Amino acid sequence: MVERYVMSIDQGTTSTRCILFDHQGRLVSVAQREHQQHFPQPGWVEHDAVEIWQTLQRVVPQALSDADVGPDEVAAVGIANQRETTVLWDRRTGTPLGRAIVWQDTRTAPLVEELRRQPGDEFFLQRCCLPPSTYFSAPRIRWLFDHVDGLRQRAEDGEVLFGTMESWLIWNLTGGRAGGLHITDVTNASRTMLMNISTLDWDEELLEFFGVPRPMLPEIHSSAETYGAARSVLPGVRITAALGDQQAALFGQTCFARGEAKCTYGTGSFLLLNTGTDLVRSRHGLLTTVAYKIEDQPAVYALEGPIAVTGALVQWFRDRLGLISTAPEIETLARTVEDNGGCYIVPAFSGLYAPHWRSDARGVIVGLTSYITKGHLARAVLEATGWQTREVVDAMNADSSLALKVLKVDGGMTSDNLLMQFLADVLDVPVVRPMAVETVSLGAAYAAGLAAGYWPDLEVLRRNWHRAAQWLPDMDPRRRQSEYENWKRAVERSLSWIA
Ligand code: G3P
Repeated sequence: MVERYVMSIDQGTTSTRCILFDHQGRLVSVAQREHQQHFPQPGWVEHDAVEIWQTLQRVVPQALSDADVGPDEVAAVGIANQRETTVLWDRRTGTPLGRAIVWQDTRTAPLVEELRRQPGDEFFLQRCCLPPSTYFSAPRIRWLFDHVDGLRQRAEDGEVLFGTMESWLIWNLTGGRAGGLHITDVTNASRTMLMNISTLDWDEELLEFFGVPRPMLPEIHSSAETYGAARSVLPGVRITAALGDQQAALFGQTCFARGEAKCTYGTGSFLLLNTGTDLVRSRHGLLTTVAYKIEDQPAVYALEGPIAVTGALVQWFRDRLGLISTAPEIETLARTVEDNGGCYIVPAFSGLYAPHWRSDARGVIVGLTSYITKGHLARAVLEATGWQTREVVDAMNADSSLALKVLKVDGGMTSDNLLMQFLADVLDVPVVRPMAVETVSLGAAYAAGLAAGYWPDLEVLRRNWHRAAQWLPDMDPRRRQSEYENWKRAVERSLSWIA
């Protein structure tokens, strides 16, 4: 049978999606299912790893049958996944040891505060290039060891395995307790706080510091290489790629050259700038992360600015304030007024990520007068996404010699034209959106297809990228500057608010 398609599995924070792509990078079929979010205590967010595995077992056959495609027509499968989410499971039984702790979970905040004091940011910057934060995996492993009796010993004895979602899924796909592959890729490993960003191997000092025994860790591989063949769900199909979802979006946007950047606008937003094979250590509050590594080629790095709350602010406006009934209505409401009326909202609902990294920051609305209407608030909601992006871009420009020239965007919020225009205005660069908006899935498919020989090289992939929309800067520079100053003052209030 001719291998006509490449499959990607995007295991995201809220759902798991399976997509088949053809040679032109066109979407042939898609199946998607949500999984449950568990909030057992304030600030805690958990997923059931078994439910996620079962969800995958449903979406994969569905995507195949919807397109009337057999597994033998699939050249390879690539996986993209929510990053940092931590799963521990029993090597012998395959059963997870409790629910997965999700990247948004802030239970490790006290531990992280300690890490900031001792050994301090510099210790981590030199090794993994990440600031201590509740965002990453290692503090969660340490938290579990401190709270679950006997767990550390069992991990030392090799009975317990750790993984982020791609590890868990690949282990299950390749046989699970009957010899499943326990692996991860460099992009996911670069988010654990355990991998040395230069050597791309687990770092002895970091392992010792967090008390993580090596036997529990997956083997680190390239993002695109043949890991092995699936034994269940897609028997015989090669698994040839794994990437963190945001790195996958960078790949799907074909940001292969140094200086190319993308931002994915979803619940949170993630801006990644390709810095080539140069490892740029951020001095301005960004993360250094692995963008991708193709087998036998050097790793490509990126600077990343994660923003915790963007689309989630629109959801809050809709669900908690009830000022709109659907998310797209925010644009209509915002267009009822000319400007924000002097009102700014800093959505630090669970602290601020890049470039501030302050888990104690809290959300603020400033500039309220009796003149302010819900239209002004709607503007301030959208503008918060624009200004948070601007802060990240400023940090990137300060960290690297690669001034941003154009920003490629994707994700749900990019259908908001007012926001996209505002973004171009405050960044003062063109903002462009591709025809293919499923960039995370496409990136995983591209990496898998490259490794499997389905696509010959990056140039061919580049030719699949087509522009669907563009917004050009159109704001008076003085206005841009004075509004940015206002935003910064609002952020100061957010940082100095002690709950
Ligand atoms: O770092 C977290 C990120 O990977 C989550 O992305 O799209 O699953 O919310 P998403």
